[in-house]
Amino acid sequence: MTPFEAATHADPYVYYSGLRRQNGLLFDADLRLWIASDAEFVEAILGHPDCCVRPLNEPIPPAIARGMAGVIFGRLMRMNEGPPHLCPRMAIEPALASVETENIEDIVSRVVDILDNPVDNVDELMFTLPVSVIATLIGLPSSRLQEVAKLTRDFVACLSPLSDEIQLGKANAGATRLSELFTALLSSDDKCSRFLSHIRSGCEATAWGDHPAFIANLIGLLSQTCEATAGLIGNTLVALHRNPDLIEEMQLTPMMVADLVAEVARYDSPVQNTRRFVAKRCTIRGRVLEAGDTVLLLLASANRDACANPDPDSFLLNRTQRRTFSFGSGRHECPGQQLALTIASQTILVWLHRQSTPFDRPYRWRYLPSLNGRIPKFYRDQETQQ
Ligand code: HEM
Repeated sequence: MTPFEAATHADPYVYYSGLRRQNGLLFDADLRLWIASDAEFVEAILGHPDCCVRPLNEPIPPAIARGMAGVIFGRLMRMNEGPPHLCPRMAIEPALASVETENIEDIVSRVVDILDNPVDNVDELMFTLPVSVIATLIGLPSSRLQEVAKLTRDFVACLSPLSDEIQLGKANAGATRLSELFTALLSSDDKCSRFLSHIRSGCEATAWGDHPAFIANLIGLLSQTCEATAGLIGNTLVALHRNPDLIEEMQLTPMMVADLVAEVARYDSPVQNTRRFVAKRCTIRGRVLEAGDTVLLLLASANRDACANPDPDSFLLNRTQRRTFSFGSGRHECPGQQLALTIASQTILVWLHRQSTPFDRPYRWRYLPSLNGRIPKFYRDQETQQ
């Protein structure tokens, strides 16, 4: 198995533990990259100033460099270091942190009503609902939510090296249309949402006035939400299928759903790995990395490192001091972590509430093709796998 195949393998965790036993940081000569698999190396590399999110000579992947998707990609805080990372981060992070659970609960209950058969069509719950919640927070009207969720899914295809020409064409069209929608929203005379005005005051306070980058990073909030939150919701449904007793327990004690989702985020991460590119020769925990080296960081493996989480292969709802690398760490650590956990918990509550006879017709699943995301695609026994 390769670490890229592991992301969508039925059980990658035995393979990860073998890597950790060999060495927390080893060089794979075939893949020509370093693989960091234990918690200490993952944390040290993510925290190192010379380990960057993009290669110095390739800020935008060549496959998308000439279209609108590439333009947006190049302005995302996630894909930058220095001021183009810090400025949007300082403006947006406080707004994300200020969103209250009750607000999300309220938005989820309203958005569910516009979804297309959300209980039988789990895709709607996994993909359309979370993106619609963020779009609503930003201030887009409910009449646009289905369209925005679809455009976001089209756009995120530009982030995967597995996408073909047709998908990249749709990603460009999605990027263009999302930019138009946000441009119209920002220039409208209507009162803007509390969340958007929070971000705007963050821009004023930090004197950050790059309008195109501002729009790109609003699109970034949708795209960062899309697949990762779908994976978290999907992997929670997988956990419920594997432990059907939990369904009744959760239905009786809905307060426990937050613990369930938090443990799934650690135990079966929707983001299995991320990459760093070495900008300058550096020594990390006694190992020398050369400028130009690439490191693959196995976040899902770090979650299962006993040094970070005792008894790491047990699924424990009441785990104390849970350490979760699924949201990254260091300067690019996910600023939407709490929000993602809340959206996923509220979504699972909706599913549990509408699930009158659990697993009367159980699902099967396989994982969507990806080199780093672990997102189940569900189907019923009698349905063909598309
Ligand atoms: C389960 C859901 C999510 C997971 C697992 C997740 C995971 C991650 C990870 C691993 C990173 C860091 C990547 C790296 O350093 O290489 C990241 C960054 C980011 N995430 Fe999330 N994320 C989730 C949901 C969200 C949501 C809901 C939002 C916002 C609405 C969000 C916004 C961001 C942003 C803006 C960044 C870039 C931060 C920076 O570069 O400083 N994420 N996320």
